[in-house]
Amino acid sequence: MTRYVDGVTIRLLRNGDTATVAALFDRLGDRSRAQRFAMAKPRLTEADLAALARVDGDHHVLVAFLDGDPRPAAMAQLVRDGATAEVAFAVADEYQGRGLGSILSRELAADARAAGIRELRATVSGENPRAVSLISRSLASGRSRRVRTSWVGGVRELVVPLDAPAP
Ligand SMILES: CC(C)(COP(=O)(O)OP(=O)(O)OC[C@H]1O[C@@H](n2cnc3c(N)ncnc32)[C@H](O)[C@@H]1OP(=O)(O)O)[C@@H](O)C(=O)NCCC(=O)NCCS
Repeated sequence: MTRYVDGVTIRLLRNGDTATVAALFDRLGDRSRAQRFAMAKPRLTEADLAALARVDGDHHVLVAFLDGDPRPAAMAQLVRDGATAEVAFAVADEYQGRGLGSILSRELAADARAAGIRELRATVSGENPRAVSLISRSLASGRSRRVRTSWVGGVRELVVPLDAPAP
């Protein structure tokens, strides 16, 4: 189902659509790639592509497009494990800092809530204030005090509790 939110078109990734995953990766610089994957990631392997393009009952991926640009502008990924899910985000370098990640994170959180997920986890490596703000505020629906943070080395694990959807 396609959604339109604040001028952004958001689609579900089709299972196996590695071309879209690769097209967004091409729009990330070295720093963004390292931030997204918590390690240097100069290129995606076939196994990476297959994993990132997997969509099924436990793998949910949103892709954002902006008017006048046929290439993907951002992606949000969720991998479910019971009532918990690991999430990750990537916005094309040229569109970062304009609210796109926040829009996608709110949509992803709404989808997670509707699917019965009660907790989201995200990994943020090194200094990444945009990612921390996005997870603490947009993903957490403005309830940053409920977000739990733990550190392992230079990597931060953020845990966001989700409310049940309104009946
Ligand atoms: C992290 C990322 C997804 C955020 O998406 P974005 O579209 O760039 O971010 P937004 O414009 O929605 O802003 C998110 C928050 O960062 C804040 N922000 C924006 N630019 C900032 C900057 N230069 N410094 C500090 N904070 C900044 C925004 O105010 C917003 O916070 P708020 O909700 O408290 O107002 C995106 O920058 C990205 O893809 N980075 C590389 C990959 C990555 O780090 N992935 C995260 C791993 S989970």
